[in-house]
Amino acid sequence: MNISVIGCGYLGAVHAAAMASVGHEVIGIDLDNAKIDALAAGNSPIFEPGLPELLTAGIESGLLRFSTDIANVGGATVHFIAVGTPQSTRNTSADLRYVDAAIEGLLPYLSDGDLVVGKSTVPVGTAERFREAVEARGAHLVWNPEFLREGFAVKDTIEPDRLVYGVADGDDYAVEALNEVYATAIEAGSPVIVSDFATAELVKVAANAFLATKISFINAMAEIAEVTGADVTKLADAIGHDKRIGRKFLNAGVGFGGGCLPKDIRAFTARAEELGRGESVTFLKEVDAINLRRRERVVELVTEELGGSVFQKKVAVLGLAFKPNSDDVRDSPALDVAVRLNGFGANVVATDPQAMQNSRRLHPQLVYGTTEEALADADAVVVVTEWPEYKELDPAEVHRVVRTPIVIDARNCLDADAWADAGWEYAGLGRQVRNGRATS
Ligand code: UDX
Repeated sequence: MNISVIGCGYLGAVHAAAMASVGHEVIGIDLDNAKIDALAAGNSPIFEPGLPELLTAGIESGLLRFSTDIANVGGATVHFIAVGTPQSTRNTSADLRYVDAAIEGLLPYLSDGDLVVGKSTVPVGTAERFREAVEARGAHLVWNPEFLREGFAVKDTIEPDRLVYGVADGDDYAVEALNEVYATAIEAGSPVIVSDFATAELVKVAANAFLATKISFINAMAEIAEVTGADVTKLADAIGHDKRIGRKFLNAGVGFGGGCLPKDIRAFTARAEELGRGESVTFLKEVDAINLRRRERVVELVTEELGGSVFQKKVAVLGLAFKPNSDDVRDSPALDVAVRLNGFGANVVATDPQAMQNSRRLHPQLVYGTTEEALADADAVVVVTEWPEYKELDPAEVHRVVRTPIVIDARNCLDADAWADAGWEYAGLGRQVRNGRATS
């Protein structure tokens, strides 16, 4: 099929490349010249495993093109809206200006029988607002949320664990057309759920609200574990064996960040309040508060471990991305911890395998370096993003280069016994401090 994707960020770039990889002819549109130039040359502007290969293959096959000119969507019949919906600068609601602009910009190019497919995460009620204008052009509107995880975005787009189509009542034409777009995924077993617009819009925010709640639940247990001497990782393992609960998303630590979970739960709360149902999701404010408290706790733990002050202490901050396999630092707990420690006068040297460039743009005041530079003569080491290279660090080797063997494992991702045995003072979140220094 002939497809356009409007918005080529974390979502749209992957979607465009993935659609080309299953044989569609795709044009990706974005206002950002630099981004489009990079994509058109086969260079991914973001770090996403598998995306560069997909881009190169798409461009070489001639199926994938990019442009800054919306007029180039003219040849396409299915138009995906994949622009961002960041948190508003005025309050916690979603800023819909990019979605509004994308759909308005697209309207003049729509023809009879075209599909406008919204993928952006929007407050419930948004699709209904665009319906009339789209239908007036003879086109069909669908809301088709995406559930891709950064780091696994290519796989999640090509083999989604479900496809949700929010359509107008009785719009079988749109369902069939979208089934054709996703034929490869459907043949491979992805289930399709067809609903009204409101349900489709809600599915996305409900899923993210649930995931955020699960993480904050275990982090709340970590807070209790910290004052009772319990171990939250063992607790998570034990409750996770119950299949109704499951072990996934029960990793206690510095909490969630990124371009989705934090802003989505806030926008959901704001929308529920607008609808007069604020009390239904009041708990999400608590979920947010628990999450943000964990960042403070990490800073507190570093301070405690350094004897009450971080002032002029060298702290190696390992990790800046909001999670491994990503260069995304939007609302990153790791970057936040680095900035806070720096603000308290610590000599922070921060490092990350992929996210230093994005971090530097936001926080040029921080000192960035290699892992070796960060660790050299450090008074404390803080692991804030669980990149494999940090999990695989040899505690004995690192011991030799630091000034003081204190490690704060803000993701509970290190082998606590191995670090303690190598002579480290190990402090995790929601776990007992292990003092191995005496044995070093
Ligand atoms: C999320 C959703 O998973 C995805 O379906 C949606 O489309 C977009 O938002 P993403 O933001 O890529 O995806 O990251 P995700 O893997 O969900 O992790 C979110 C945050 O939660 C990260 O900061 C991660 O470190 C944190 N997290 C995750 C935990 O703190 N503990 C866990 O157990 C799991």
